[in-house]
Amino acid sequence: MLDARYSIRSHMAGSLTAASVGEDVIVAGWVGKRRDHGGLIFVDLRDGTGIVQCTFDPEDSRDAFVLAERIRPEWVVKLEGTVRRRPAGTDNPNMATGEVEIIVRSAEVLNTAETPPFEIEAGIDTDELTRLRWRYLDIRRPEVREALVLRDRVTQRFRKALEHRGFVEVETPILTKSTPEGARDFIVPSRLNPGKFYALPQSPQLFKQLLMIGGMERYYQIARCFRDEDLRADRQPEFTQVDIEMSFVGQEDVLAMTEGVMHEVMREAGHDLVTPLPRITYGEAMERFGTDRPDTRFGLELVDVAAVFASSEFKVFAGALSSGGASKGICAKGAGDWSRGRIDALNQVALDAGAKGLAWVAVTSDGDVKSPIAKFFTEDEMSALRAALGVDDGDLALMVADARPVANEVLGVIRLRLADELEVERHGFCALWVVDFPMFTWDDEEERWTATHHPFTLPFLDDIDALDERPGELLAHTYDLVINGYEIAGGTLRIHDPELQLRVLNRLGLSTEEAKAQFGFLLDALGFGAPPHGGIAFGLDRLVMLLAGAHSIRDVIAFPKTSSGSDPMTQAPDAVSPRQLKDVHLRVD
Ligand code: AMO
Ligand code: AMP
Repeated sequence: MLDARYSIRSHMAGSLTAASVGEDVIVAGWVGKRRDHGGLIFVDLRDGTGIVQCTFDPEDSRDAFVLAERIRPEWVVKLEGTVRRRPAGTDNPNMATGEVEIIVRSAEVLNTAETPPFEIEAGIDTDELTRLRWRYLDIRRPEVREALVLRDRVTQRFRKALEHRGFVEVETPILTKSTPEGARDFIVPSRLNPGKFYALPQSPQLFKQLLMIGGMERYYQIARCFRDEDLRADRQPEFTQVDIEMSFVGQEDVLAMTEGVMHEVMREAGHDLVTPLPRITYGEAMERFGTDRPDTRFGLELVDVAAVFASSEFKVFAGALSSGGASKGICAKGAGDWSRGRIDALNQVALDAGAKGLAWVAVTSDGDVKSPIAKFFTEDEMSALRAALGVDDGDLALMVADARPVANEVLGVIRLRLADELEVERHGFCALWVVDFPMFTWDDEEERWTATHHPFTLPFLDDIDALDERPGELLAHTYDLVINGYEIAGGTLRIHDPELQLRVLNRLGLSTEEAKAQFGFLLDALGFGAPPHGGIAFGLDRLVMLLAGAHSIRDVIAFPKTSSGSDPMTQAPDAVSPRQLKDVHLRVD
């Protein structure tokens, strides 16, 4: 019988090695694999540190052996015995404890267990929904556990690196006012203030700026953020940022700090990040890769083929140019012999991405040219096209004519698809800065300018007239850290002048009254001696996902939500009682 006053075990399963041979130990944990060899029973005992083989021999203890016949996977047991070298030839080099076993003298069942809905093993193919429904069992499996341990190591390394650089961790409110980062807010009704709502923070953005105005100089926080947006593999409704802000800095200071911290964090995970990182502007990223978060582990870059089509018979392409659009192309090496069906599938990808069509020229490995548009080309134009895109025998050229942003974005999507289809090698980590984003982006649906990053971003002051005259052309002090096609961190310098802040909010469509109602506290604070400041925020989940070699941030979050924003284990979100609704002055339609 367990005496709850005293410790239960003397050793952790994973700690037993050849050096422990001869020791009397008490271990406790879960029953993993159990193998009954007639005379002998072997049980893998698993605890938080690993697995050790325990051997039950009726010669050593009849009672323990009888119990071992009865125990089932995932029962919780306490075993007492002696560590022994495994007999010659029975070592298991795949186990950290593979040289030893425990000869069990006494065994006690601390708890029984239902039959688990899936095997508690590495590499199972159980669907994710089932694993999330019983996530605590999933967490017993090595890859989930290892991901959580890696996440902890990365987090601790961030803390160390930032503390070392004089940053102070400060917590900011969860029940707050809207902090716009481009998503919908999650809102929480207030019982004490009928008809009023808190918003959960999309990021601690405004609070960290207020901390700078409060003289904190260097702030960081491992901060939970909440965004009500459509979910995908790298997006969760609640996620974690390593959020950072600094006063009296220029952009170079923030970038250098970030690179230093990143270097330490990557090192913790066993990778050497070469700094300084390459930089490209947003404009260049869009032109070359068709996205602001390029995967630079491979080429397949976009090429401007306008010159080829300027005077061509191909009306779509010539027309796009004369109406201010662009003609861009990409060369798929080795795809010249692709079937019509395979090319049509790419065409569909382009249409889904917003293109009007995808023009193509396939050159088979025998040098035959196949193309629905060949008839529009003179021989000279065809060779000019091939030269511009570098099309050799056996290659496939793909072209889009459209408004420049559409042409770039569509080919950006095609580029990634080609990398998959061509099975382009993508190893290691390619990190770079994408800088100088436009301050504003036009939103067709809302018919207004929106902030490309957020409304508190400092525009290029030497072109500030553009704010009123050419808002689409105004650039801002912005920087995104991109690794392997993921936006891993993003930041900006901030506006510290209340007048400029108000002008920007006006430009975003808020009247001065609306701006003051929504952001009055910020505008006030900027008026009390705000220092120049700037910062950045890492997406911790995304970074750990990359470092873990995972493909979804759900794999590195203990209790993630599904793509519909629900938790199959707790069943959240759930209905609440009429009483709870009444308390917060709400009625559900
Ligand atoms: P931003 O909105 O770019 O910047 O967010 C910073 C980083 O957070 C990660 N991220 C997400 N991760 C998982 N799920 C999501 N839904 C999600 N949304 C964003 C990304 C991103 O790079 N306040 C600014 C930062 C600043 O200016 O200092 C901000 O929140 O990796
Ligand atoms: P059409 O002359 O419209 O039949 O188009 C001939 C080829 O050009 C087809 O393969 C279309 O998919 C392609 N195409 C049409 N419009 C565009 C465009 N804007 N960009 C790229 N390809 C296009």
